[in-house]
Amino acid sequence: MLHIDIITVLPDLIRSPLEHSILKRGSDKGLIKINLIDLRQYGLGKHHQVDDYQFGGGAGMVMRIEPIYNCILDLKSQRTYDEVIFLTPDGDVFNQKTANTLSLSSNIILLCGHYKGIDERVREHLITREISIGDYVLTGGELPAVMVADALCRLVPGVISDEESALYDSFQDDILAPPLYTRPSEFNGWKVPDILLSGNFKEINIWREEQAIQRTKLKRPDLDTGDKP
Ligand code: ADE
Repeated sequence: MLHIDIITVLPDLIRSPLEHSILKRGSDKGLIKINLIDLRQYGLGKHHQVDDYQFGGGAGMVMRIEPIYNCILDLKSQRTYDEVIFLTPDGDVFNQKTANTLSLSSNIILLCGHYKGIDERVREHLITREISIGDYVLTGGELPAVMVADALCRLVPGVISDEESALYDSFQDDILAPPLYTRPSEFNGWKVPDILLSGNFKEINIWREEQAIQRTKLKRPDLDTGDKP
């Protein structure tokens, strides 16, 4: 069971993707649990304030440490966490290897940044890992958190019905997935490769592996396909 707590000021932005398809099925089966925590519940004063002006001046609000500290403390009183992850464009760039590692966790916190940024003391003292989903800047950490949660949850055994299929994903072993085809075998004169219709599964597997390697060399020459030709 993988339990993910997502701390956010915008829980509504995240809710829908978690309530559909594979993530929903995984949680219905009790294999994953994704909890949305509205940081504003821990906000300060009458207005449940979670941000403030930055010391030293400058445009943009900064997320305060106290609501985040209190929220994380509250969560930690309920269970032990393997990781407290902050989503930020200056974090370590997320990839399949990190997804594989993190999917073995029991409990994870994903903290979504917002506004101009977050008080640096949160990063220094409360966070165990920082993740970026790529070298571009989004309006907040919510969509990145959903992407990370999705990548982890589908790796939890049983979440994807055909468990094997996660093993053959693009990027497992640094090799992209081979091309796929379904019916009809011919459309507009565009044919499915004969080998896939041959019924010779040994040859089909060899063909798929060759295609995967070829495709990786062509599309992602930066990935290491090993010794394979
Ligand atoms: N927040 C804003 N942009 C982000 C990114 N690229 N990755 C993770 N969190 C973010």
